[in-house]
Amino acid sequence: MGRRGPRRLSALRPRRRGPWSTEGLKAILPVVSDQRPWWRHAVVYQIYLRSFADGDGDGTGDISGLISRLSYLSSLGVDAIWVNPWYVSPLIDGGYDVADYRDINPLFGTLDQAKELIVKARQAGLRVLIDLVPNHTSWEHEWFKAALQASPGSPERRRYHFLSGRGEHGQLPPNNWKSAFGGSAWTRVPDGEWYLHIFDKSQPDLNWSNQEVRDEFVDILRYWLDLGVSGFRVDVAHALVKQSDYPDAVEDRETLLSNPYSEDHPLWDRPELHEVVREWRSVLDEYHDVVMVAEAWVSGWNRLALYVRPDEYHQTFDFHFLRAPWDSDSIRSTIEDSLSATTSVGSIPTWVLSNHDVVRHVSRYGLRPDVDERDWLLHGGDDQIDLELGLRRARAAALLMFALPGSVYLYQGEELGLHEVDDLPEAVLDDPVWDRSAHTEKGRDGCRVPLPWSRSGPSFGFGEDGSWLPQPEDWAELSVESQEGVEDSTLELYRRAIRIRNERLRGDQDLVWIENSPKVMAFRRTDGLMCLVNFGSSPVALPEGDVLLSSGPLKSGLVPSDTAVWTAKR
Ligand code: NOJ
Repeated sequence: MGRRGPRRLSALRPRRRGPWSTEGLKAILPVVSDQRPWWRHAVVYQIYLRSFADGDGDGTGDISGLISRLSYLSSLGVDAIWVNPWYVSPLIDGGYDVADYRDINPLFGTLDQAKELIVKARQAGLRVLIDLVPNHTSWEHEWFKAALQASPGSPERRRYHFLSGRGEHGQLPPNNWKSAFGGSAWTRVPDGEWYLHIFDKSQPDLNWSNQEVRDEFVDILRYWLDLGVSGFRVDVAHALVKQSDYPDAVEDRETLLSNPYSEDHPLWDRPELHEVVREWRSVLDEYHDVVMVAEAWVSGWNRLALYVRPDEYHQTFDFHFLRAPWDSDSIRSTIEDSLSATTSVGSIPTWVLSNHDVVRHVSRYGLRPDVDERDWLLHGGDDQIDLELGLRRARAAALLMFALPGSVYLYQGEELGLHEVDDLPEAVLDDPVWDRSAHTEKGRDGCRVPLPWSRSGPSFGFGEDGSWLPQPEDWAELSVESQEGVEDSTLELYRRAIRIRNERLRGDQDLVWIENSPKVMAFRRTDGLMCLVNFGSSPVALPEGDVLLSSGPLKSGLVPSDTAVWTAKR
């Protein structure tokens, strides 16, 4: 299998059939007990495919590795997996640079294996969500190659944003827009025009004002839905549409990254993008039990709520929870704001602590509060971080998250308590951020290091040989093999928490605050489960009821600091 030649990109294609027919999947869907859509309270596990499990021993994770670990995922009790981009891609941005949206990267497997995964996952009670990357293609996509061959003003160029430059000879970029990865968002082509890329120059932005682009993505949605996926995580959902007269933006990159997207920004969170989302939603509504979740980094909850109106996304990620520092007030207010924003439009929050773009939360919570995360990544410093503290807090945060109303997205390896790998040698760094920032930012490789499955072996059981990024020695003790069946391990804590959560779920849960102080957060859910988190420095009394689970050992009936506990009355 490989790249195929030019094709009629927006035509409806006959469904392909391989040995793994995904027809009839509905028959083996797990039964939804409370008649609410499954995703409203699902636990979704994010698979960074390249680093999950390597089935063919080439050092890179792949679909066959994932299939071989499905039983691990069912034993964790999750409802669905979200697989990061698996499409044909030069992998300059880890696969978020798609060259063919309808085929699988040979490094990860084949289309037949993808179908096999969808079927086998369903048999194991797991739904499969995939990543949709609509903001940009790879520069290896047929459309972009055709655009480079075509002349200024041609239909091929109008699928992207090609503009003349400023200055006497057009030698300056069309405006001051900056790439989120550093540097200008414009690159010049030999005939003098410039194309837009708000990420790497290998990721040209599509022009969503062009009907051909819109039709193409409707077709891509149908293609994968027909193959049986249960939905999509939509990449940079807040960026699709750009202001049509391309004015200069007012802020610099620093403020851009600190998320100040104003209500009227020329490239982020434009109101016009909602029309596109509504079109996608009408397509999804033709299918059974499927979901779209937006990756939307926007400036406030009122803006975020717009993405989950009844005819738009089913869910959106809300990164405020992930960004909140470890203190009761900040975390409580993100919970309240997220709940009120999403429920105001009939949706429900999602909770996430880590993903493939951020420093793993064990490390975040263990960093000294005065230390800048990016500086620490760049320069290291063991005196700046306390990983034991970080793990204690991460375990407490997990219990808090599992107790909240809404659905939870886990990032592979957090159930093992993995920390960020901050000392990757420069020679192995792969994230384009490293080069584009002129080596002033280390990038995201430290949270993408392949998983340790066993205590020993060349890549701790990740595959039969090495791993594409080196794993730290101390991961032997964090491996699945080391934690499986060990009562106080993080893996068993996650398993028990998800089991209890699943057993007690009867429809959407409401939350009533019992205590809210700078030191203690406690709430009760509709089903009677009480969750208390001690953010203070001294132990506090246990809430009433029987203890169902605690994130760390209780001492003489007290809840120690940085510990969470679940109780329920008999
Ligand atoms: C968000 C993805 O999560 C990230 O990994 C990627 O680099 C950018 N979007 C660009 O696609």
